[in-house]
Amino acid sequence: MDVFETFKAAQKAGWAHFAPLQAITTTSAARLVMHAGIRPGARVLDVACGTGVVAVTAARSGARATGLDLTPELLEAARANSRTAAVEIDWHEGDVEQLPFDAAAFDVVVSQFGHMFAPRPEVAIGEMLRVLKPGGTIAFSTWPPELFVGRMFAVVARYMPPLPPGIPPPVLWGEPTVIRERLASAVRDIVFDRATMLVPALSPQHHRQMTERTAGPVLKLVESLSAADPAKLAAFRQEYDALAAQYLEHNIARQDYLMTRATKV
Ligand SMILES: C[S@@+](CC[C@H](N)C(=O)[O-])C[C@H]1O[C@@H](n2cnc3c(N)ncnc32)[C@H](O)[C@@H]1O
Repeated sequence: MDVFETFKAAQKAGWAHFAPLQAITTTSAARLVMHAGIRPGARVLDVACGTGVVAVTAARSGARATGLDLTPELLEAARANSRTAAVEIDWHEGDVEQLPFDAAAFDVVVSQFGHMFAPRPEVAIGEMLRVLKPGGTIAFSTWPPELFVGRMFAVVARYMPPLPPGIPPPVLWGEPTVIRERLASAVRDIVFDRATMLVPALSPQHHRQMTERTAGPVLKLVESLSAADPAKLAAFRQEYDALAAQYLEHNIARQDYLMTRATKV
């Protein structure tokens, strides 16, 4: 397996336990659907859909939704979500770097905290734009490096082996200047917006426990350190808790994020 396939295999295994976090990503899904201007009848692709919160929200507002994700366990939850919500969605197991759809098949392509985890940003965005019709909307939510979740990823990265050469940190997708470069001349009318995800947490430690049980990169880190280096794990946990404490007030952690929207030329 080459370095990119190895990275994706680790992502697939790492995100398998993410489903409980849909309780939190549900509200931001509605924000993204609104930001993308999704209308009834629009053909919408939700890339790296996880449990399908964005696709289900789009379908409930009348769109014809398709969802794609790398992780089968999350697609199972996505299927259950669409059954419960009584909406028809076309679910696919697949990779954003190799989308199994025709060119210009969609009116809107969205991703919530998803496509940012693909190892080759230019390949992922190239595919998302390929399947989008000219004049269609691309919209995504991402974590900026200087805010809580981005800083948390930086803490995690310091305790892990470095990313292989050629794989940039996912949080670069949270930088407007980088986004402009990556979208380049393929789009016009880029609009940025910010929003806040409010996460209930009884203490910084509760926030960390939730993350350790659900979020791919953190789950992997804790797994590897708990056997190999308990002292290092304790240091990581202390750093995490100190960071989380800065964003926790009245039992709510503020997780601010960036939303991007653009029109394909
Ligand atoms: C933080 S979760 C977000 C899930 C969902 N969009 C949400 O908002 O709840 C990241 C998702 O990206 C998916 N993912 C990571 N790399 C991927 C890739 N190369 N292709 C497709 N999905 C990918 C993971 O399986 C996981 O579902």
